Amino acid sequence: MAARKPFYIATPIFYVNDVPHIGHAYTEVAADVLARWHRQAGDDTWLLTGTDEHGQKILRTAVANDSSPKAWADKLVNTSWKPLLETLNISNDDFIRTTDERHETAVLIFLQKLYDDGFIYSGEYEGYYCVGCEEYKQLDDLMETPDGDYAGQLVCKIHGRPVEILKEKNYFFRMSDFQQPLLDLYESQPDFIQPESVRNEIIQFVKSGLDDLSISRSSFDWGITIPWDPTHVLYVWFDALLNYATAVGYGVDRENFDRRWPAVQLVGKDIARFHAVIWPAMLMAAGEKVPSRVFGHGWLLVGGEKMSKSKLTGIAPEQITDTFGVDAFRYYFMRAIGFGSDGSFSWEDLAARYQAELANGFGNLASRVIAMIGRYRDGVVPAAGALTPADEAIRATEQRATDDADAAIERFAIHEALASIWTLVEELNGYITIQEPWALSKDPAKAERLDTVLATIVHGLGTLAVLLSPFIPDATEKLWASIGGDGTVQQQDVRAAWLWTGTGTVTPLESSLFPRIEQPEPAVV
Ligand code: MSP
Repeated sequence: MAARKPFYIATPIFYVNDVPHIGHAYTEVAADVLARWHRQAGDDTWLLTGTDEHGQKILRTAVANDSSPKAWADKLVNTSWKPLLETLNISNDDFIRTTDERHETAVLIFLQKLYDDGFIYSGEYEGYYCVGCEEYKQLDDLMETPDGDYAGQLVCKIHGRPVEILKEKNYFFRMSDFQQPLLDLYESQPDFIQPESVRNEIIQFVKSGLDDLSISRSSFDWGITIPWDPTHVLYVWFDALLNYATAVGYGVDRENFDRRWPAVQLVGKDIARFHAVIWPAMLMAAGEKVPSRVFGHGWLLVGGEKMSKSKLTGIAPEQITDTFGVDAFRYYFMRAIGFGSDGSFSWEDLAARYQAELANGFGNLASRVIAMIGRYRDGVVPAAGALTPADEAIRATEQRATDDADAAIERFAIHEALASIWTLVEELNGYITIQEPWALSKDPAKAERLDTVLATIVHGLGTLAVLLSPFIPDATEKLWASIGGDGTVQQQDVRAAWLWTGTGTVTPLESSLFPRIEQPEPAVV
């Protein structure tokens, strides 16, 4: 048997200073869809997510809430971040916290190796620091605000909050050594950073010169202690980036590490630089492979700006899932926003797509087909007779939708994968209108033709269930059971979706897959 193709995908690990909003949920859902697709295609898949718990930002939040940072992180992980994964039906294989002992142990091994190999030295640093980004900033990253609370001050362009001037003795990572190797990497592996817009920005950034990176802090102690100097803790990003390696056994379980690594890194474009510059440089220094890809997706915008808690524009995922359900949440964000571009969320658009695409387009198709098999053939899916060009066209669309969706997923064009699959929804609906099974049912001489039409639409529906399962796992599982598919829908090879056998017994759905929603939630921001 051929070895299964490895597919390791990781989300960024989330700061536990606050509760999740739909921007965070967006990253999770996208990673989950990709992981489910690959898992369902039989690839040796691993989906990692987790939380980023060290650093000043978390420390300050904890102190402001009269809590120790660890107690604060525990609380947020258990009451917000892990429940988010349940809410969104995320099929993660692991959840790493940077306060896990397994992480801290492996980080120390990595650090010591870089230190012993001469990639770390001690020096002094003075610069502007944004606690929101947990990053030293260049003047280009800052702006002066003419009015408001921070009038006349230099604020971070991302957070809109004043930066602080820090001057510290620090340990530095010799990142500048990796300027040319990084440029060579971007050149030799053109799909290493995607999409193109993010790739270009990063290449420009690296070409303009790389400084060494300050990787330790001595003004607070919430972090991993530097093994050769206990007065310093590790810079939170250096610590956090390592999670992708420590979670799969770096430093302690070489076999597992080699099985999984390298990962596909899915990140918001705001943090692509950390993942496409610092992280590969760290790995190169340690003699390890760089990630297989870094994909920087776009932002969910509110009023044209990145949705964020600090700007009070966050929408909690439950506000949407409570009304529309988790499948609709997953579908909407993957369909409505081109993956890699920014997109504005609107309740109206969500409600309209829910009604037109999920309830009327797909849900209604499923209910009608299942009802017709019950009514005309006592629930037994008939065998098809001779195929006409119209039936063959549906089979051809099934195959094309399968191949196109798979190719789109390979390119991370998640929205295009859904659009390809939706051609089948539309063609099946059109086919039913033209073939008029209700008319065929009235003429006993057309019984064989009715068999063929019914067999064709059940087959198309089954193919849809398999293809849509990574996107809307609950609805497709119900549909698959209802049309008498073998096993669970998640066990069906998604790359061969159109090849399922499509014979069996149909049992009615207990309720519509996407019931009508009378009053969508009003806009709450
Ligand atoms: N802790 C760091 C990541 C460390 S990874 C080694 C971090 N955390 S975060 O919680 O602030 O953000 C996590 C992810 O959520 C990022 O990929 C970020 O881009 C994404 N999003 C946060 N707000 C977002 C939107 N409004 N829209 C889309 N994604 C957004 O950064």
